[in-house]
Amino acid sequence: MKIFISFWVVSGFLAAALGGNFNQDFDITWGDGRAKILDNGKLLTLSLDKTSGSGFRSKKQYMFGKIDMQIRLVPGNSAGTVTAYYLSSLGSNHDEIDFEFLGNLSGDPYIMHTNVYTQGKGGREQQFYLWFDPTKDFHTYSILWNPQSIILSVDGTPIRQFKNLESKGVGVAYPKDQPMWIFSSLWNADDWATRGGLVKTDWSQAPFTASYTNFNALACTVSTTSNSCPKNSSSSSWFSESLDNSGVERIKWVQKNYMIYDYCTDSKRFPQGFPPECSIA
Ligand SMILES: *[C@@H]1O[C@H](CO)[C@@H](O)[C@H](O)[C@H]1NC(C)=O
Ligand SMILES: *[C@@H]1O[C@H](CO)[C@@H](O)[C@H](O)[C@H]1NC(C)=O
Repeated sequence: MKIFISFWVVSGFLAAALGGNFNQDFDITWGDGRAKILDNGKLLTLSLDKTSGSGFRSKKQYMFGKIDMQIRLVPGNSAGTVTAYYLSSLGSNHDEIDFEFLGNLSGDPYIMHTNVYTQGKGGREQQFYLWFDPTKDFHTYSILWNPQSIILSVDGTPIRQFKNLESKGVGVAYPKDQPMWIFSSLWNADDWATRGGLVKTDWSQAPFTASYTNFNALACTVSTTSNSCPKNSSSSSWFSESLDNSGVERIKWVQKNYMIYDYCTDSKRFPQGFPPECSIA
């Protein structure tokens, strides 16, 4: 198996040389030619027009990892479009860790929607505005998933954490025994995405295009024939990484300044009390 170690490599040249190759790591799964792998595997683009969106999936299944992807979201008038980037297993009891980017009119802010499903149960939405224009440049969206916690980060700033609370016995399952694929797709969701569905997709702007580069996974892979982790993963930083004090402070900063929806404070939705993970820090 290949272990992409560019996480530790400071030199941009080496990082590019060691970074993931889309031909090697991903399959285009739908879109009838609308998804393209370009530039010798260094760039992937998804596009959407009135007929169809498009999507891709990792060739490998992962069971814990630190997975980084750089994405440049649909520029201009992206209202009605959704770019989803997520880890997921399959089946009705699936686990899933989501980023979804809801487009907007030119100049109006995207919403970054996040969710965590465990054993088929989701409903853990948190939504954020971003502190930059996600359509101008590539930005790094990271999912750290290890046995203790899931940490979502943007450009290295943690924005959300979901902890393994199984030992607390409060009935909150943690994803730990279903391997997940990496998926991404771009599709039309103008019935709900932008201002709750008020702003529709302007098809005169099609095709809409999102771009991906510099995929990096430090991860354990699972297949029918072999399971493998980076050799020293149990001692390596990602496998045991948790938020330090500065990480906790940065999550607070993001949540205070950029969070626009948190299921853990939506008392209308949970009149009988919030889910247990909301009150366990
Ligand atoms: C789009 O812009 C409007 C107006 O600023 C804002 O209320 C909304 O949250 C933005 N994002 C989406 C996805 O609707
Ligand atoms: C394994 O350990 C070595 C030495 O600590 C470190 O340089 C390397 O990055 C580690 N690799 C992984 C995949 O954790």
